[in-house]
Parts: sequence; C-alpha cells; structure tokens
Amino acid sequence: MRRPMIAGNWKMNTTAAEAETLVRGLCSLVADVTDVDILVAPPFVYLQLVKALIADSPVALAAQDMSPEKSGPWTGEVSGPMLKDVGCTYVIIGHSERRQFFFETDESVNKKVHAALNEGLAPIVCVGETLEERKKGVTLSLVGRQVKNGLAEVTAGHASEVTIAYEPLWAIGTGVTASPEEAEEVHSAIREVLRELFGADIVGNMRILYGGSVKPDNVDELMSRPNIDGALVGGASLTAESFARIVRFEAIS
Ligand code: 13P
Repeated sequence: MRRPMIAGNWKMNTTAAEAETLVRGLCSLVADVTDVDILVAPPFVYLQLVKALIADSPVALAAQDMSPEKSGPWTGEVSGPMLKDVGCTYVIIGHSERRQFFFETDESVNKKVHAALNEGLAPIVCVGETLEERKKGVTLSLVGRQVKNGLAEVTAGHASEVTIAYEPLWAIGTGVTASPEEAEEVHSAIREVLRELFGADIVGNMRILYGGSVKPDNVDELMSRPNIDGALVGGASLTAESFARIVRFEAIS
C-alpha cells in the first residue's frame, strides 16, 4: 500500500519567529507519528532555520519551487543543488499560483521536474482546473494533459519518486473543498494516465495528493477514498494544532 503523505505549503507566510514557533509546535505534536510522510514547505529564506528545528523529528523539508537551472546568471532564482544543500528532500513544482501569476507552463514544469529528479529531489507536481474549466466539463482532459506534459520523458525508473497534487483552483484558499467524490473522480483519472505512462506496477506506488481547503474536519472523509493518498495543505498548515490533526487523519472505512 502507498504510504500517506501530508504536506504543508506555507506559501509566503510567517516571520522567522513564527516559523520557529510553528515548527517547534508541530514537531512536538507529531513526534510519535511513524506511518505518514510529513512535509513542510516554508519560504526559501527559512529553509535552513526549519531544517535545524526538524532534526530528530519525522518532519521532512520541501521547497515551494525551484529553478530548472543549476547555477548562473538567473537573478532571484534558487537552484536544485542549493535546495539539496540546505536539506530539502522534496520540491513543489507548478503550483497553480505559480502557473497563474508567474507564467509557469506545462513545459517549464516539465523542465523543473527533470532538474529536480536529476538532483535527487522528489517533485510534487501540482495540477488542477479553474471553476470555468470545471463548468465546461473539461476537467479530466485538462488535468490529464497537465500530468502527461509535466511528466514528459520521465522514465519509469524515476516515476515512483514523483508525487502528483490535484489542487482545483476553485478550492484553494476559498474554504470550498472538492467533495470526496469529486476529488476521487479526478484522482482515479490521474492514476489511469499514470498507468498508461509508467505501467501498472509502478503506478501502484505513486502518490496522488489532494489540495484545496483541506482542514481537520474534512480530511478524514477525503483520506478514505482509494486514490487519495495524502493532502497538500495551505492555510491549515499555518497552525501546528490543525496541521497535526490533519497528519493524524482517521480514514473512515
Ligand atoms: P488552502 O489549503 O489554503 O486552500 O491551499 C491549498 C494549496 O494551495 C496548497 O498548496
């Protein structure tokens, strides 16, 4: 079975002092958790600080983005080798906020996915539709295309290091969550695309996270669906108690 993953995307939030309080609180609340991969993705400037604080805890470090380039004249960018250097093991790629506001495309996402894999960083590749696209009935084809294009030329050997995060834009930061049925429908379609790309054996190990207003009071139902393997959490990851409760989800059978 796939090991669940609960990842907190802090986005552009916290001061250093708040980051420290948050991560100390989280580490003490999840110290005994052994059956879930727990990740936090702080802003770049606090990665080192957070890395020091999560030592000896089950919490791992993720970045929110990365450059496709290794080094050089790319002002403002942060490279994969730098992220490795400060202790990241995962990197979020193609978040909808980056696609919407920073002109990321499936092609740039694909370059970053390869750069991450080449560096030994596990990419969490975000996909998802707008409300308009959902209303038009193109969700499954659009998300399928984002997955295929984003993972173009990824080998089956690397595929199990890749996590997909389905984050419908209409559910991000809105308090509106996709229903477990709506999410499961898209997750199972994504798994079908991954099966076509990488084969039945490998797809069984690949995790698909749901993101979009995940909270303590909806995580249990979401996590009880067969193709929902975890959550990418924004707002509710900024409080140690609520994020720890999400980590301690109880799937309803
Ligand atoms: P919210 O949980 O705040 O809706 O954010 C989801 C998200 O974008 C995580 O990457």
